[in-house]
Amino acid sequence: MRDFLIAPSLLSADFARLAEEIRDVTAAGADWIHLDVMDNHYVPNLTVGPLVCAAIRPHTRVPIDVHLMTMPVDPLVIGFAEAGANTISFHPEASLHVHRTIELIKTHGARVGLALNPATPLAVLDHVIERLDVVLVMSVNPGFGGQAFIPETLEKLRVLRERVDATMQRTGRPLLIEVDGGVKASNIAPIAAAGADVFVAGSAVFGADDYAQAMGALRGALAQMSEADEALAEAR
Ligand code: DX5
Ligand code: ZN
Repeated sequence: MRDFLIAPSLLSADFARLAEEIRDVTAAGADWIHLDVMDNHYVPNLTVGPLVCAAIRPHTRVPIDVHLMTMPVDPLVIGFAEAGANTISFHPEASLHVHRTIELIKTHGARVGLALNPATPLAVLDHVIERLDVVLVMSVNPGFGGQAFIPETLEKLRVLRERVDATMQRTGRPLLIEVDGGVKASNIAPIAAAGADVFVAGSAVFGADDYAQAMGALRGALAQMSEADEALAEAR
């Protein structure tokens, strides 16, 4: 069975108490902290830059997973890498030279992810998939938290899962599938069954009164799915 990781998105946190929110969600068992960077240009919303990433870095030991929704991409890569980002994902439509941006992220010591919008075909992975650490599959249109999961994402995940497994066999390197948008305890099991490894959850975690309970509900649904899977495998 795959290992599943949960990455609470700070987009739904209380920005006036960011350090406290990060400590609380880390204590509640966050595997990664997802930081959404929006520029009011590539997406119709505006959030934070490298300064805030550097400010939150000392408040958690878990990896910071930066999701760049900015155009251009390259100037910010350096800033976020220096601010302590562990993974930096970007949208191929926002970079004129996708291969160059991938190499720039790697050169600066971060893991690299390519983010695919709901209508972006998997074909954008051609020629670069072997260089990636993460494929970030958007299950909502980027820009806002609290939107509903787009169901067509499940079929995309199934196709991607096969491609990622084949790639890992070839390269011998890990490559994670991360899903971002509308993930809840009520739908995380089918999303996992379709192929995701990492689950971004903004409103599902920060919208709850008790973060540990919210994380527990997500993990509980994943565990139930894994048990059902194992029982099915044994029965075969
Ligand atoms: C949307 C962001 C997401 C968002 C997810 O552009 O990339 O990370 O915060 O929020 P929920 O989980 O509420 O859909
Ligand atoms: Zn995101």
